Formats: sequence, C-alpha cells, structure tokens
Amino acid sequence: MENLIYLDNAATAWPKPENVYEFAIDFYRKTGVNPGRSGFDMAIEAGNIIENLRVRLTKFFGGDEDVPERLCFGYNATDALNLIVRGLLQAGDHVITTNVEHNSVIRPVNCMVRDNGVEATYIPFNNKGFIDPDDIKNAIKSNTKLVIVNHGSNVLGTVQFIKEIGLICKEKGVLFATDTSQTAGVIPVNMKEMNVDVLAFTGHKSLMGFTGIGGLCVRKDVDIRQTRSGGTGVRSAYPYHLEEYPFRMEYGTPNMVGVASLWAGQDFIEERGVENIHKQEMDLAKRLVNGFREIEGVQIYGCEDMENHLSTITINIDKFEAGDVGIILDVDFDIATRTGLHCAPLVHKQLGLVESHGGVRFSIGAFNTEEHIDRAIEAVDVIAKSRK
Ligand SMILES: Cc1ncc(COP(=O)(O)O)c(C=O)c1O
Repeated sequence: MENLIYLDNAATAWPKPENVYEFAIDFYRKTGVNPGRSGFDMAIEAGNIIENLRVRLTKFFGGDEDVPERLCFGYNATDALNLIVRGLLQAGDHVITTNVEHNSVIRPVNCMVRDNGVEATYIPFNNKGFIDPDDIKNAIKSNTKLVIVNHGSNVLGTVQFIKEIGLICKEKGVLFATDTSQTAGVIPVNMKEMNVDVLAFTGHKSLMGFTGIGGLCVRKDVDIRQTRSGGTGVRSAYPYHLEEYPFRMEYGTPNMVGVASLWAGQDFIEERGVENIHKQEMDLAKRLVNGFREIEGVQIYGCEDMENHLSTITINIDKFEAGDVGIILDVDFDIATRTGLHCAPLVHKQLGLVESHGGVRFSIGAFNTEEHIDRAIEAVDVIAKSRK
C-alpha cells in the first residue's frame, strides 16, 4: 500500500487532507453527542457546527444566504437525488435528464416512470461529451416539471453548460436541478448565477469529507414534497413530519463525524482555493492524456482539448477487456483505477461500450503528483505493447 498510486478519486477522494482526519476525530471524541436535541452544553455545541456548516455551504454553493436552513444534510448525493426526484415529480409530469447521468438519477427517474406515471426524456451528449442546451430547450413540453443535469461526468470528465441550461429552464418556468457530485470543490458552483433551483452534493469526493454525508440546497421559491418521515428531535408531539426546512428534508440522527469532516474540508478548500485545486489537477490530467495519446492502441473518450473538463479520463486499450486492464494495473503496477460502467450505463451505451464492459477510468485528486502520472503512462504503455 505504501507504493499505491491512487487514481480513483472520482469514486472517493483519498487520502483526505490531514486537517480533516484530525478535526473530525477530535470533534467526535469531544462533542460526539446527538446535536441540538437536548439542552446541555455539548449538544448545543454539536448543534452549532451543523448550523454553521449550513451557512458556510449555502455561501459556498451560491444559495440563498438568508435561508441557510434550506441547506439540508443526508447520507450522500444518491440520497439527495432521490429526495429531489421523488419529491418534485408526480403522475402526469415530464422530466428531462441526460445520458451523462449517474444511476443515482437514472434509477429514481426510471422508478417514477415505471411506478408513478411520470414521463422521461433522456438527452444524448455530443461527440465531445457535452449536452447541447438547445436540445434541452427543444425537449421542453407543457407538462415538463423538472430538468436534471449532471454538472460533471464521472466517466468522460466533461463539465456541462449548467448556466445556459439553467437560463432556459428559468425562461420556460421549469425547475432545474443539478448533481455536483464530481464538481463541488473543484469547479466553482453558484446556484444564483447558474439559475439552479436545487443542487445535490456528496461530501466524500472533492469536498474532502468522509463517506456518509451529503445533501441538497433548495432555493427559497421551490418546495420539495416529503417522501419520508420520522424523528427530527424537535416538536415531537406533532403527528406528522415537519414542513419547515431543514427538518422537511432531514430524518433521524445526523452523521456528526461526517458534518465535522465537511467543516474541515471547507477549511482545506478555502486555504487552497477551488481554482488552484482544479488547475493543479488539470495540469496532471493533461500530462496523462498527452502521454496516452503517444501510445498505439489506446482509445481516449470524451473531450480531446480538455476544455470545460475535470481531471477524469476514461480509456480502453485495443484487444483488452477494461476489467483485465484494471487488474493488471493493480496487481503488476500498484495503480488503483476503476473499470466497468461506473454507475453511468447510458454514457457507455451511447459510446457502444456496454458489450465490451465499459472502460478504464483514471481520476486524479488533490494529492496526486507528476510521478504518479508518469508511472500510469508507463504502465499503460507496457500493457498496450503486450498486445498479441
Ligand atoms: C456524478 C455522480 N453522481 C452521483 C454520485 C453518487 O454519489 P454517492 O455515492 O456519494 O451518493 C456519484 C458517485 O460516484 C457521481 O459520480
């Protein structure tokens, strides 16, 4: 493990910054009680970090700062996207989404189509991996309730034109939601500027928190129906789930160590700067792509010029199954990548890669170095040259 080159940061950022481990563990040791549900000092202190994090993340995402309670926590992006899809759509509604989505959107949307009388349209991406905003515009119908688009692809690495799509939705009076799982922490996000009504985030990727924390940010003129109910720790005599935010979208005891990790993740991001983190990762991503381009038999998917891009690159090597390449990289070269369909089957379907079992994804994080990249290029070169 000492020599491991970790290039699976799109799955989860690893390692986390030292300050995240230190702060979260120390916080949990000293203040790991159920927050705000009792009047004693420790519970109040635990409650304060959640409330302060709502304020901090609302600002970070460019949400409505006068209503930080609309920044609600859950397990992860999957959890938030389920609340969004199931809480905004009902029978007779039309939803527009895209082929770059993750299963955390595709599956809840498909379940709503199968079980709840919702109609869905999936927009394909162009040959560079981008959704054309005009395709969204042309797909809007009188019963379109929601457009939901992945901000950054976890397979192709392309960053979508969210602001332009948001403007179309605003003009047409359609709700617009985006999934920032791959972008939050590396690409600036501003809900107001990007015309986003609802945003989903996950804590454990570039936000640098631990797994098991994520959530959603809801603009003040949007309301999401409750699709769950349970304990909130306040007004316990009320027989139904509370209508007011954040309780409306939060259920049961929150993940306090996750909250603390996200708080410290914000410290790390603020200190380095989102743009600087992205630039550092993209310099490495360009080095990787340039190296791969020199290798015969390597097919790179997505946007060639790396504009509007994340540091995620998916490839295949002629005559090799993606899964076999992943195993060789792991066993022979100590390089961790992710192979297969990456929970985004429509990307692979549109690229014609489902039968060949997807691709090999290299995803660069804040702690990768030029040496890691050079070793990955060398390894792919050796594998490609071993083709029969
Ligand atoms: C684009 C995208 N959306 C959603 C998710 C789901 O994130 P989580 O597993 O943290 O819910 C992921 C995770 O890989 C992702 O890449």
